[in-house]
Amino acid sequence: MSAGRRADHYTMNDDLSSTWAAVDALAEEWLGARDDTLDEVLARCTRAGLPAIAVSPCQGKLLHLLARISGAKRVLEVGTLGGYSTIWLARALPMDGKIVTLEIDPHHARIARENFALAKVEHLIELREGAALKTLGELERAGVAPFDLVFIDADKPNNARYFEIALRLARPGAIIIVDNVVREGAVLDDSGANPSAEGSREVLRLMGKAPGAAATLVQTVGVKGYDGFAIAVVGAAK
Ligand code: SAH
Ligand code: DHB
Ligand code: MG
Repeated sequence: MSAGRRADHYTMNDDLSSTWAAVDALAEEWLGARDDTLDEVLARCTRAGLPAIAVSPCQGKLLHLLARISGAKRVLEVGTLGGYSTIWLARALPMDGKIVTLEIDPHHARIARENFALAKVEHLIELREGAALKTLGELERAGVAPFDLVFIDADKPNNARYFEIALRLARPGAIIIVDNVVREGAVLDDSGANPSAEGSREVLRLMGKAPGAAATLVQTVGVKGYDGFAIAVVGAAK
């Protein structure tokens, strides 16, 4: 579909997913949400057989802007994959900034390291391999310096565990973002049969009642379909 197509002939019953993708393509071009390096990073992830589940270009740029808006210097990411979101975040950091990113799959970690070098951001990134509950525990016990922004994007059933730990590792005023909490409305599934949906429901309820955070939910559509981010700020006031 061309960027100039008029939107006034859609009805509620149309499948809008191709429209969402076309609007994302328009925004990527007009707002600068991709470049040769980022495209090559995604191409390498595909060639290496990684699943195509990185954040979209516009979502990557949202993470980047949130880091810039908040002046983040220290970022924690749970779930690296091929490092696409990590690179977007790294590009928001000052020269002395740092990202700690956690990944369980050694193949993903290897591809991510290659991509960090390609994007010339490897000096900003520490990739820790292993199950995130383990590596987060190690960071906590080591008394790691507080983080300014946390992006949670790994195994969804553990979302609430990751959020609890993120609250302890983040400074007051830090941003915590959780990816994929809507999943085409699967968050509504209260049957208990879908562990990822349970993970979304659990983390959203926790974000709502945790005394140490104020949170909202942003539903998203685009090239990755229909999903959403939960976004929280660390601090006492709701
Ligand atoms: N943030 C990436 C996408 C991450 S996909 C991006 O947007 O570019 C989710 C990643 O979490 C996968 O690479 C998967 O291997 C990893 N993962 C799954 N379970 C994990 C765990 N228990 N600990 C750490 N990483 C995990
Ligand atoms: C999946 C994981 C993600 O982090 C994502 O953004 C989309 C899909 C998945 O495991 O299917
Ligand atoms: Mg995700």
